Amino acid sequence: MAPSATETMTSPGENLLAKKLATRAKNADDTPLYLDYMPFYDPLEKVEDIGSFDHYDPGHRADPALPNLLADATKVIDLSPHVGTEIEGVQLSKLSPASLDELALMAAKRGALVFRNQDFRDIGFEAQKKIVSHFGPLHVHGWAPHPAAGSPEHMVIYDHKEDLRVRKSWKGRSPIQWHTDQSPEPQTPGTTFICMLESPAAAGGDTLVSSSVQAFKSLSPRFRKRLEGLTAIHTNNDGVTQELKNGETAVMRRQELIQEHPVVIVHPVTKEKALYVNPVYTKKIVGFDEEESDYLLGFLFDHIAKRQDFQCRIRYEAGTVLVWDQRITNHSQTLDYPAGERRHAFRLTPLANKPIPAKIEEDDGECERDFGRVQLGLC
Ligand SMILES: [Fe+2]
Repeated sequence: MAPSATETMTSPGENLLAKKLATRAKNADDTPLYLDYMPFYDPLEKVEDIGSFDHYDPGHRADPALPNLLADATKVIDLSPHVGTEIEGVQLSKLSPASLDELALMAAKRGALVFRNQDFRDIGFEAQKKIVSHFGPLHVHGWAPHPAAGSPEHMVIYDHKEDLRVRKSWKGRSPIQWHTDQSPEPQTPGTTFICMLESPAAAGGDTLVSSSVQAFKSLSPRFRKRLEGLTAIHTNNDGVTQELKNGETAVMRRQELIQEHPVVIVHPVTKEKALYVNPVYTKKIVGFDEEESDYLLGFLFDHIAKRQDFQCRIRYEAGTVLVWDQRITNHSQTLDYPAGERRHAFRLTPLANKPIPAKIEEDDGECERDFGRVQLGLC
């Protein structure tokens, strides 16, 4: 006898897969796990810019051996050679000031650090802000939502069938958009936290991270020299235009930002050089004609996007916290899970130093120190 429609649609093997497939934390009635962090949009809200401030990076105070940060660590796993490390056994909420200094240094060296099963999500707005303020004054986003209960510094990331505002903003274009957050600020973000509250059921909603240090190092020494000394214009004009499409509900709590930054910067603590352009905010190389600027930026944006040899990918569960240094990385969302599923997180974004330009050095011996290039006769 021919199988019924039900039998042909669900084989025993598929039933087994459904039972075995790992799924992430959800409420049975599909209400959010973290109601206190639901996004709130206030079109009348205005905030003042922080203004200029002195920044002394906590990483300067850190013991390079990381004895405090890693005292309780049970395992440290590098996610890729050039960027990303996962640390098991450490609770961010329990870190001392000395441990937080070491966290800044380790993030400055590895670009991105992943901590899972964190109670950070449950300690409340004020305790969360106190920890992250260790790295600098907290940024308030120009239009992204914050929790209804307050705390404008908590930037809420929310996507669900009942609130498709963010997903609609990517309508008709790729959601893969490499960037460093808020690069049009005069003093740009440093050691930043994303705390995941709820993820899509099975997979998706990862963050892609690219090392800007390795993006620079992987260019030929002569090309690197061409980039040093250049500056570029960064603006959030595109984001403002997109937000204004929300009409009467558009939030515009700060002025549009525009800023000139070096194309190659130096990290204040590690002194590593990093490429500091990104396709979301960087619009023009200063002093180049339009076609020249488009040509060079197009190459650099492709370089960042395509070079998976200095990227990593961060998967989240509820309670995963990503700590990353924005000055030496670019990142992108993925938005790859089915529309309507819930992804819910918050970001706390400390501002840091004004980007420091790399010195223009005609020949600083970089090529001779690069074993790979010397071996291949590329110097
Ligand atoms: Fe971002």
